[in-house]
Amino acid sequence: MPTDNAAAWDRHAAAYQAGAQLSTDVAHYGPDIPDESELRLLGDLKGKRVLELGCGGAQCSIAFAKQGATAIGVDFSAEQLAFARRLVEREEVRVELRQGDLADLAFLRADSIDVAFSTYAFGFVEDLNRVFRQVHRVLKVGAPLVFSLPHPAYDMIDDDSEQPLLVRRSYFDRSPIDYEWGGVPFTDYHHTFSDIFTGLFRASYRIDAVLEPEPRAGGPRSRDWRETFRYVPRTLIVRARKEGN
Ligand SMILES: C[S@@+](CC[C@H](N)C(=O)[O-])C[C@H]1O[C@@H](n2cnc3c(N)ncnc32)[C@H](O)[C@@H]1O
Repeated sequence: MPTDNAAAWDRHAAAYQAGAQLSTDVAHYGPDIPDESELRLLGDLKGKRVLELGCGGAQCSIAFAKQGATAIGVDFSAEQLAFARRLVEREEVRVELRQGDLADLAFLRADSIDVAFSTYAFGFVEDLNRVFRQVHRVLKVGAPLVFSLPHPAYDMIDDDSEQPLLVRRSYFDRSPIDYEWGGVPFTDYHHTFSDIFTGLFRASYRIDAVLEPEPRAGGPRSRDWRETFRYVPRTLIVRARKEGN
């Protein structure tokens, strides 16, 4: 039985946020890779309506609001959103926070969003194509959906044993990945690159950027750092634009 990831996030939120050390000035894409200040995938956000999918503590939405965007964050975890509300208040910005599933964006009008963004939430979603369709409905024509998720090649790696590098799963195995994080059970879903490409194409997007960033050369490492990041890409980043309705 796959885990109830919303309940898992409620249980894990405090520990996740305590160790996360995420900037509220610039959007991040994943552990130990360059952030938006270097990757520049989102463009100028001043005056834009930006939707963050799986916003967690809303650090990225807060960064968008500081840049002059109207930021909207959606997440299904009440505990993650409770942390986000406190952080938004402390940072003295305005972010609209909504509790709900990423596949249910009925509260947003069609063609009303300038940029949709997501960091490391789509790996928890089984039916990603449904999310792509929902996001397509709310985006303006030509507007981007920019998202990062665990790189499908990294899903194959056993990163508990770094030497030697071990493959633990077939790339072609789409069954749910059950694991524990801080003692809390979670379920991830493996989305191969061709599944992502096909889902976006069928939902009428055009992919215009795909990034597999190498880890930063030096500097302090995140709490998630593994030596395996040097050999297999940890994060996949995609920018896709909405084609016509
Ligand atoms: C790894 S956290 C990332 C949070 C934030 N983007 C960040 O970078 O810190 C994943 C978030 O996605 C949310 N999430 C996962 N699946 C979701 C779904 N189907 N609907 C809504 N939120 C979801 C979780 O509650 C969690 O807050």
